[in-house]
Amino acid sequence: MATNHRIYMDHAATSWPKSEAVLSAMTDFIRNCGSAAGRGGYRSAVEADRLISLVRRQLAAFIESPSSDCISFHSNGTAALNTAIYGLVGPGDHVVVSAAEHNSVLRPLHELAQRSGVRLSIVPVSVGGAVEVDHFLEAIEPETRLAVLTHASNVTGVMQPVAEIGKSLRSTQTALLCDAAQTFGSVPISVSELGVDLLAAPGHKCSGGPLGTALLYVSPELHEQIRPSVYGGTGSQSESLEMPLSMPQKLEPGNLNVPAICGWGVALTELGDLGTRQQHSLSLSRKLHEGLRGISSLSVHGSEGSLPIASVTMEGLDPADLAAILDSEFGVEARAGFHCAALIHEYLGTESKGTLRLSAGHGTQIAEVEMVIRAVSEVVEELGRS
Ligand SMILES: Cc1ncc(COP(=O)(O)O)c(C=O)c1O
Repeated sequence: MATNHRIYMDHAATSWPKSEAVLSAMTDFIRNCGSAAGRGGYRSAVEADRLISLVRRQLAAFIESPSSDCISFHSNGTAALNTAIYGLVGPGDHVVVSAAEHNSVLRPLHELAQRSGVRLSIVPVSVGGAVEVDHFLEAIEPETRLAVLTHASNVTGVMQPVAEIGKSLRSTQTALLCDAAQTFGSVPISVSELGVDLLAAPGHKCSGGPLGTALLYVSPELHEQIRPSVYGGTGSQSESLEMPLSMPQKLEPGNLNVPAICGWGVALTELGDLGTRQQHSLSLSRKLHEGLRGISSLSVHGSEGSLPIASVTMEGLDPADLAAILDSEFGVEARAGFHCAALIHEYLGTESKGTLRLSAGHGTQIAEVEMVIRAVSEVVEELGRS
């Protein structure tokens, strides 16, 4: 039976719906201000600048950054991660990453390895998708320039031991970059408690901001060292052919997406108590994992964690077919395939066709997760009979 009802289960890609207040903030800016930020002395340009500074300060407070100068805005998580990687890693450097990373980390590093002789050590993950602290630390050499670890996998939702690794790397010359794409807005984040030197996060996932938003945190110790990887106008020192040396301007060439950033700022004010959000995520995660594990012939990959993400496969069934039936027959929107994570599938045993990923969000109701489980169960039973 085809349905028009929509159960959105792809929050790990981007959250939906966005709140009315987020949409209003965006249209309000476009309609009533609309000027470029940092590029003029007239009133509306100054107002655009003020709005950007406000959200920058909100973000700094949100991750306990020592200063809002440590926060630069980017168009998405990928751009923020590339800014960090290309800004610090140079020819001949050594970099350590986990096999659980997203391609927005793996592909720039692969490119640097191919063209600039960067040496890459890829740390395996367990069958459950977790990185072992000892394995990760053993890969670090005295000259390792950068270590990159995702806060949580976008394929399994499994949280990685960033704080433990951060603690061990604190007094070394290795900078630690955390990819918080799946946790920012869902799990409390303190850059000092995590012990990270850099942290990248899109605004359009768990924190409820619009597409076109992301932040990069760069610790004050790295402000001088980090190099721009995109060059252009910053609205400051325009008489010079050199990029400004000051942060965050040196990482923000070109016009910022002011409407989206205004929307993100409002989304941040709507998050409320992160402890309560985390509790809801945990309940959704339990419901999702328990329900899916109860369906015989279905394999659930990764261990149950605090994020409501689950990846499943079924012997002899292409996850893409499962996703198509769930969508057309039950209105369940979920993603099938490799989820832009090239290496983790080898460890999960899902390297042939990837997985079907079901990811709930903060607005998802427990009843919706129950409907999703019933739908998956019906499809699996039906296919098992045919
Ligand atoms: C773990 C992880 N890192 C990075 C990204 C890239 O973020 P964006 O899609 O905003 O470029 C994603 C997006 O799915 C992700 O899940």
